[in-house]
Amino acid sequence: MSDSTTYPHIIYESRLTLIIALSDAELGKVMFSNPIRWVDSDNNPVDLGLEQPTAQKEAKMLRYANEINDLMPRFIEMRQWTTPNGEVHDMVVMERLEVLPIHHFDKSTRLQMLKVFNEKLEEQRNSFFLHNDIKRPTMYFNRGDKEWMYSNVIQTPSQLRLIDAGFARVYPYNDLSDFRMSLRRNLLESMDFGDYYMEEE
Ligand SMILES: Nc1ncnc2c1ncn2[C@@H]1O[C@H](COP(=O)(O)OP(=O)(O)OP(=O)(O)O)[C@@H](O)[C@H]1O
Ligand SMILES: [Mg+2]
Repeated sequence: MSDSTTYPHIIYESRLTLIIALSDAELGKVMFSNPIRWVDSDNNPVDLGLEQPTAQKEAKMLRYANEINDLMPRFIEMRQWTTPNGEVHDMVVMERLEVLPIHHFDKSTRLQMLKVFNEKLEEQRNSFFLHNDIKRPTMYFNRGDKEWMYSNVIQTPSQLRLIDAGFARVYPYNDLSDFRMSLRRNLLESMDFGDYYMEEE
């Protein structure tokens, strides 16, 4: 076996996130703590009212979502990840999904898979869990790129899955004002995803 510390199999890297394939079944997510500033097309700051994603928060949200159903990847464990320059970061180890192109299946199969996906989202909502990032916000550098916008929904051979709990939240059941506000946006985002998913022949 190759030494994964020396030769990490990086499957995704951005300013904020490093995704490492640990095996066929396991993947590690490392998040760097650069504060995110969302800006609109005129470079004005946009406040999405959401906390910064951290590995601890991602782990906590995945564990909560795992109790509801199998929509999100199974949380496995927390580990430490050392970068080549010696920085040590927390790494969330989770189930690695098999990723197919989003429009891989024929329309009737997709319709079935979309139905199951929406049922599982509803189960999450019924547990006061909202993902909050089903449709990633478009900005000047990726405006109109739907593949990028919906990249948190993954087509696997058996069903649609949802990744990236970075902005997910569990809302307190005794004060649902925030929940109601975010619920509407989540519902619209999942409807927009459904349109995109069923778009192509
Ligand atoms: N469990 C997983 N199984 C398979 N692929 C994954 C998994 N988690 C993440 N990926 C891949 O890594 C990419 C980035 O992951 P993720 O969405 O969790 O990071 P992110 O925090 O949104 O990063 P950024 O904001 O920089 O895009 C995904 O689009 C997907 O291609
Ligand atoms: Mg993402």
